[in-house]
Amino acid sequence: VPVDPFELVVFGATGDLARRKLLPSLYHRYCDGQIPEDSRIIGASRTAMDREEFVKLVEESYLEFEDGSQHDPDCFKAFADMLDYVAIDIADDQADWDTLGGKLDATQSLIRIFYLAMPPRLFVDIAEGLQTAGLAHDESRVVLEKPLGNDFASADAINEGVGRVFDENRIYRIDHYLGKETVQNLLVLRFGNILLEPLWNSRAIEHIEITVAETIGVGGRGAYYDSSGALRDMVQNHLLQLLCLTTMEPPASIDADDLRTEKIKVLRALRPVTSSNVKDMTVRAQYVRGRIDGETAADYLSDVDVEESDTETFVAIHTEIQNWRWSGVPIYIRTGKRMAQRRSEIIIQFRPVPHSIFPSDTHIQPNRLVIRLQPDEAVTLWMEIKEPGAGGLRLKTLPLNLSYADSFAARYPDAYERLLLDVVRGNLSLFMRRDEVEAAWRWVDGIIDAWAETEQRLSLYPAGTDGPDAARFMLEQLGDQWSDPGETDDTGET
Ligand code: BG6
Repeated sequence: VPVDPFELVVFGATGDLARRKLLPSLYHRYCDGQIPEDSRIIGASRTAMDREEFVKLVEESYLEFEDGSQHDPDCFKAFADMLDYVAIDIADDQADWDTLGGKLDATQSLIRIFYLAMPPRLFVDIAEGLQTAGLAHDESRVVLEKPLGNDFASADAINEGVGRVFDENRIYRIDHYLGKETVQNLLVLRFGNILLEPLWNSRAIEHIEITVAETIGVGGRGAYYDSSGALRDMVQNHLLQLLCLTTMEPPASIDADDLRTEKIKVLRALRPVTSSNVKDMTVRAQYVRGRIDGETAADYLSDVDVEESDTETFVAIHTEIQNWRWSGVPIYIRTGKRMAQRRSEIIIQFRPVPHSIFPSDTHIQPNRLVIRLQPDEAVTLWMEIKEPGAGGLRLKTLPLNLSYADSFAARYPDAYERLLLDVVRGNLSLFMRRDEVEAAWRWVDGIIDAWAETEQRLSLYPAGTDGPDAARFMLEQLGDQWSDPGETDDTGET
């Protein structure tokens, strides 16, 4: 179903995110017939270029970042008719704002959206620039790309500043993980099936693990990354969002406020990390030279081109949600760059059966639910069954497997395709509310402060491994262990 016609101004239109994700996403949605012809997409950035050059950049970026098999030159040509470009220096040139204003629909009949794919320190200046130039009318919307600040104080300042121009229900704070098919499927899995909910608590669940492992390093984003680190870059947003969706109470509906109110309760119930427990509850590490897929992979310092750095590229955290449902259930989260395999999974480890009726030497493996977000999206429930045979009674652990690739032939839209159209539709459900982002920062700030106070050491791990030994030890102390890839894919046995 096509959305209503809109005009979208992309600030940072020549940047990495716009070229890699936003503009290709719009092109896909257009060719799928979801964007009406009378919409407009206006690129804005400091680079001087004309419309034709911008159109060329969009096409080249598309071909560079996506596999060309979906490219349809005729459709691209029609899509390009919607594109426009304006060079703008947001800091000091009123004339540039007027030029931008001249490109916008004077009748204000189109839905007006400003997408800030820019460093967060510029968010407030852009919002104010839009206001001064009279471009932000009551109905217009603004999309804020992560990172939303660097800590609670900076996030608060951004929210305050942008909030002076746009009402809260016109601010779309993006966390692209919420646009992923498998992440939305978490809601359906939990609340579209009766089977799980009665077991979804501390009585039946022994622990929860969330792993987001990447093989990529920091690419060309060294300067940003080195001042950020894995905790701010991944945990504050993506991993905490996954944790919230996995553990929140059933919301009354999927309306934005019902959902977001439940998520924030989880964030507020997270056990605080302080200087007295930080050493037992967190591990921070950085990759050193190693091997990935048979190739030598450089160390972090060479990747970001600095002599020394205390920035973590891996973090593991043991936490707990201090509420009735989850009291006493350890929650383990970890994420890292340059790890052995790209793998994002949520693992629900169930408790053992309360009593075994089988001979005492029979090992019964507790059930495990693995929600694989990427790659090879799947939901796998590991169960015990009897191994056929007339001999003794032998148990085997086998997967009940719901693989996306086997069940759905179609290409799944990228997270940004879904989220961009949600902005046009005015659906805030998959975007973060101010208090949610701030609650996440408060918890993360606690960790950062505790690291600083205790001068917590940075562990090292070779690129191409599952992270530092320290992360393994942290769980061993608790009598647990991280899942390993061989264990959870559907070909192996647990
Ligand atoms: C981004 C982080 O938000 O998410 C990156 O800034 C990270 O460092 C990326 O690589 C991971 O996203 P995805 O969709 O590839 O899992």
